[in-house]
Amino acid sequence: MSKDPDFLHTKLCDLLSCKYPIIQTAMGWVSTPHLVVSTINAGGFGFLAAAVMQVSQIEQSIKQIKKQSNHNFGVNFHFFQPDAQKIVDLVIKEEIKAVSYGRSPDKESIRKFKDAGVLCIPTVGAVNHALKAEELGADIIVIQGSEGGGHTGKIPTDELLEEVLESVSVPVVAAGGFKDGKGLISALERGAVGIAMGTRFMMTTDSPVPESTLSKYLEVTKNQITVTDKFDGLSHRLIRNKFIEEIERSSATRLLLMALKNSLRYKNMIGFSYLDLIKSGFSLLKQDPLKPAQALMAVNSPVIIQKAMVEGLPDEGAMPTGLIAGEINNLLSCKDLINSLIEDALNSINNDF
Ligand SMILES: Cc1cc2nc3c(=O)[nH]c(=O)nc-3n(C[C@H](O)[C@H](O)[C@H](O)COP(=O)(O)O)c2cc1C
Repeated sequence: MSKDPDFLHTKLCDLLSCKYPIIQTAMGWVSTPHLVVSTINAGGFGFLAAAVMQVSQIEQSIKQIKKQSNHNFGVNFHFFQPDAQKIVDLVIKEEIKAVSYGRSPDKESIRKFKDAGVLCIPTVGAVNHALKAEELGADIIVIQGSEGGGHTGKIPTDELLEEVLESVSVPVVAAGGFKDGKGLISALERGAVGIAMGTRFMMTTDSPVPESTLSKYLEVTKNQITVTDKFDGLSHRLIRNKFIEEIERSSATRLLLMALKNSLRYKNMIGFSYLDLIKSGFSLLKQDPLKPAQALMAVNSPVIIQKAMVEGLPDEGAMPTGLIAGEINNLLSCKDLINSLIEDALNSINNDF
């Protein structure tokens, strides 16, 4: 390893114009303007979670971040959101540095972003998705290994990172299971240009998550963290709680009824019309081999997550989490988190000599 003090200044820092190669990922309800501002002012790069917002809220949030920081940040959204085209135009109008997204990327919108100089940074959980993302024009790819929070694949981070690095030529960022400087150094040594963290940023004093829910994350052990596809039809890593146990026991009919009820709440919350809701479900069905009940669950999973992450009712909602929550037992500010991570990373470089 090079002892060069610039070791921590990677291509990611140049591309995103940030001080450190650390990304705060988008987490629905969690990656709010305050979390983003706290991250970018501390030298990282933050993504605003716009997939659970109406366009007017996204616009307001962007303005709020710009008012509180001169640093760059990104916006995360789904191409299958009914207002996706308006979000694409808003991001371009506001000259946002980067967008992140997951499933079902839209080729035409990616071309629009690239023409406007907005960096496209998809997250993938498998090599074939990375190849597809690169073909569609990704500028940077975030790989999320199976240890990661929220939707997650089957391949562990180290393995996936190695496979994707061998397969694509764009810079790759590692996500899934990171919390400290040792992890950062290990990812850089393996060839990543940086790390992205969700759970660790969610477990900070800058997180908007209510104390009642954060205390569950602080208490959780690794064997209380599970992966289920019963929640929204896709592999989702979550804390096993009363709600998850209930849906795991539920029949398909009961799940469908639950999904329908939640769809109505989601529709009102995000300003969908019934037509939008149906279109959104169909768009997901077209892109993913989901069953109808699962597609409906997927469309409205934000409502269930909202219960825990916004309303502070941890037993009634879903709590997405990375496995790393089982190892985190303190809340730091984003600034202290990033500073300690960089300090640890530098110490670990120096200790090698
Ligand atoms: C509470 C929580 C909510 C999340 N919500 C989203 C989301 O809305 N959209 C998304 O693309 N990823 C979401 N994720 C995944 C993260 O963006 C990130 O990829 C993942 O947390 C990385 O793994 P780590 O938690 O081990 O750091 C979420 C993760 C967590 C922990």
